[in-house]
Amino acid sequence: MTAERIDGKAFAALLRERVGALAGQFEQKAGRKAGLAVVLVGEDPASQVYVRSKHKATVAAGMESFEHRLPVDTSEADLLALVEQLNADDAVDGILVQLPLPDHLDEQSVIASISPDKDVDGFHVTNAGRLAVGQNGFVPCTPLGCMMLLTDRLGDLSGLEAVVIGRSNIVGKPMAQLLLDANATVTIAHSRTKDLPSVVKRADIVVAAVGRAEMVKAEWLKEGATVIDVGINRLPPAEGEEKGRLVGDVDYAGAEGIAAAITPVPGGVGPMTIAVLLRNTLVAAHRNAG
Ligand code: GUN
Repeated sequence: MTAERIDGKAFAALLRERVGALAGQFEQKAGRKAGLAVVLVGEDPASQVYVRSKHKATVAAGMESFEHRLPVDTSEADLLALVEQLNADDAVDGILVQLPLPDHLDEQSVIASISPDKDVDGFHVTNAGRLAVGQNGFVPCTPLGCMMLLTDRLGDLSGLEAVVIGRSNIVGKPMAQLLLDANATVTIAHSRTKDLPSVVKRADIVVAAVGRAEMVKAEWLKEGATVIDVGINRLPPAEGEEKGRLVGDVDYAGAEGIAAAITPVPGGVGPMTIAVLLRNTLVAAHRNAG
């Protein structure tokens, strides 16, 4: 079997196009653009790349992008004051504070200061709680993007065995919740799981979100499984390479011979995250304007 490559990049482009069209309709009706504020503290290179991509994608979708870049030594009081100002600003529908924050800032306090109705990342405990009890809120972008890819490919997930590897608040836990809501039978595996290979072996759906290069081996997979690889890991440079290759958490080359479908890295889950962020921002705009 050669697994089908799940083209997240193409799916994300379609979603962005659709959101762009709906953002145009929103502007017509509301007399203003939907707005996303992104806050970056410090100069972490990876975060700078993400924030630049978010800005470009927001503008390309016909939304307003408010970028706030703060110095690395910004105090928590100053950051909280900025978030308060954004909470009160009617032109701002969504607020995203780029993580990780510098060590002297407490991420939980900062996330807690964002209005849950503008928390387009879905990280606020109110939104995590809403997801847990099945109420409407904001769902974190990466797991929601994974669900879109899964339902697009598989349709109804009822009764399927799903294994989520990783238990982070940002990906693993909300992913498991979404799969459960879709009536899958869900196992969350993590670093203390005994016999991970046999847990993975029973899965019709594997979502790998551990951040360890090619940790999930092809021979662990069940024949015909659908594999969603959230990991983005850079290998050490090989001979003659300036930078190492980007790989996921799953041994892609091996998995291609066993799985029915798999997301590549790059070009799988990654592009979905920003597309879903734009979607969440538009949803926020409708809720906040309504
Ligand atoms: N850092 C890496 N990914 C994300 C994300 O989705 N949201 C935020 N706020 N920070 C991130």
